[in-house]
Amino acid sequence: MSESHPSTPKISPMSVPKFAAAKGREKKLTVLTAYDFAFARLFDQAGVDAILVGDSLGMVVQGKSSTVPVTLDEMIYHGEMVVRATSRALVIVDLPFMSYQVSSTQALENAGRILKETGAGAVKLEGGVHQADTIRALAAADLPVMAHVGMRPQSVMKMGGMSKVQRNEEALLADAKAAEDAGAFGVVLELMPQSIAARITRELSIPTIGIGAGPDCDGQVLVCHDMLGMNQQFHPKFLKRYADLQSVILEATTRYLQEVRDGEFPGAEHTHQ
Ligand code: KIV
Repeated sequence: MSESHPSTPKISPMSVPKFAAAKGREKKLTVLTAYDFAFARLFDQAGVDAILVGDSLGMVVQGKSSTVPVTLDEMIYHGEMVVRATSRALVIVDLPFMSYQVSSTQALENAGRILKETGAGAVKLEGGVHQADTIRALAAADLPVMAHVGMRPQSVMKMGGMSKVQRNEEALLADAKAAEDAGAFGVVLELMPQSIAARITRELSIPTIGIGAGPDCDGQVLVCHDMLGMNQQFHPKFLKRYADLQSVILEATTRYLQEVRDGEFPGAEHTHQ
């Protein structure tokens, strides 16, 4: 765990160049979201390559129906906790809705705030062709930026939902290529057929990180609450649950309530004499 000041740039063992160099390797890149110290520390201990402080926190932490209301200050608040918990993984923090769409200057100021105030190693924004100028400005100022194409949750109003598989192959390829040409060091591919993600992965020289984009990407990302089974109501086709934390937490909590109500807890072994 790092003792460094949050505003000290943190060069984690998994740096941006190392992450980018993993392109095409047989061993895939691993990415998980995290939003707080406790989860981030465990994922870092387990050896995840990168932790994404996703604006999905609006939904899985704040209980909102989309990522749209999430603010820059909230991303910084969560990003700083995650950075403090990690000693190995690259930490990437999402630029939230309307923190970069206005102008490249706005994006530079806000990405700069994220990197300075959290100590994270990179930022992520949604878009390809339409964000190319902004990605170029960030990359030119040496602010490492990852792009996110395909289903873009911040565009939920325009897209009319967040679960539609994106199938316009040429548009998706153009977005991913525009991000690469503009200087992104990696690109998230969300919700698209395997064949399209495989083609994009072949044609790009930066790593592709898939979510709902099949096995041919250079790496995979999942939202930690989904991967750990904390919300059994959410079960899209692409999701594999590696634990059933919802049941574990409900069962433990029910037992605790019962034991307190029955006077069983605290027992003698938990009591100072
Ligand atoms: O916000 C997020 O968690 C994301 C991932 C789903 C890629 O962008």
